[in-house]
Amino acid sequence: MHISTRDQIPHNKPTIGDEEIEAVVATLSSQELTMGAKVKGFEDAFSRYAGVSSVATSSGTSALHLALIALGISKDDEVIIPSYTCIAVALPIIYQQAKPILSDITDDYNISVEDVESGITEKTRAVVVPHMFGCPADIYEIKDLCDRKGIYLVEDCAQSTGALYDGQKVGMFGDVSIFSFYATKMMTSIQGGAVCTSNPDWLQTIKDLRYHDQCRSLMDDDPRIKYSYMMSDIGAVVGAVQLKKLDRFIDRRRKIASIYREEIGGEVIHPPEDARKKHVYSRYLIRTSFDPSKVIERLQSYGITAVMMHLPPLHNRILLKEFNKDAKFPKTDEVINSAISLPIYPSLTDEEAIYVAERLNSTMEEL
Ligand SMILES: Cc1ncc(COP(=O)(O)O)c(C=O)c1O
Repeated sequence: MHISTRDQIPHNKPTIGDEEIEAVVATLSSQELTMGAKVKGFEDAFSRYAGVSSVATSSGTSALHLALIALGISKDDEVIIPSYTCIAVALPIIYQQAKPILSDITDDYNISVEDVESGITEKTRAVVVPHMFGCPADIYEIKDLCDRKGIYLVEDCAQSTGALYDGQKVGMFGDVSIFSFYATKMMTSIQGGAVCTSNPDWLQTIKDLRYHDQCRSLMDDDPRIKYSYMMSDIGAVVGAVQLKKLDRFIDRRRKIASIYREEIGGEVIHPPEDARKKHVYSRYLIRTSFDPSKVIERLQSYGITAVMMHLPPLHNRILLKEFNKDAKFPKTDEVINSAISLPIYPSLTDEEAIYVAERLNSTMEEL
């Protein structure tokens, strides 16, 4: 296959069709742009899809912030998160002046249950479990641990909307779960997110705090600190169209993953497969013994953008160092130094996926 400079294969790209564009134009024409019926319509549709009630937000980060507030996480509380994930998982904990305590990961890039257990202290209030790269974490084991220790389980489904664990959607296991609909996620509302919970009090708190002017009556002088974390109607209509396409997007990502698994040769570690887990491949990470930056540079010369994910790891970040001074994260370090994320998105064609695999194979022979 000949790829000219016009045909660069990006690492990721949203899949936007005419229906999304028409929905945006119709909403703009309606002049109803914020917190209107469209947001409620999206929330209803997403709650049906997720199997649990949802509140739409401006982002996954704001969703996690509101979730932690609803759970009562505050100053000096400890919240356990993995060392290999997006910084957005740590930030809302810091907003609350609580402490993000890091755990190492396992071979499927998800948080290690044993490490979570050894990190629990009398100050631990919650564990935030991101289902990384589309692969569900060992959620039964983590849930069981949280129940035994009396701490909250927050599922972070930002990278895994639609993934299944034991046939059940991620987001249905935690006390609270959050989602992201950022442009490059499984589905998009441009920017946006959602908090899901079956606890009516927490749902109400999240709805009350999401908007600074949210009040129950005109004279209501609610003393709580409120935010500006709303989803716009424009975002909501895009999200509603994308939600209808989500299962097709997932099928397509899984097809591309199967091409990579089949076509990439050599000593490559592919994402682990587990019969209990339906992986939705928001990212396709491989590991090799080659220097990732050299592989990435070579792929770039072939018109393919691959990247290293979540650098630097959280335990090396200035913002988090003080909370995790002497801890070691050997698995995170191993993964950080070897993992390469290949292009994967619904509009990547089979032909392009085969081209990526072929170029990766030849790169590994050349290096
Ligand atoms: C695991 C995880 N959690 C939370 C977020 C935050 O989502 P958003 O970018 O919508 O704020 C991200 C974003 O990339 C993420 O990967």
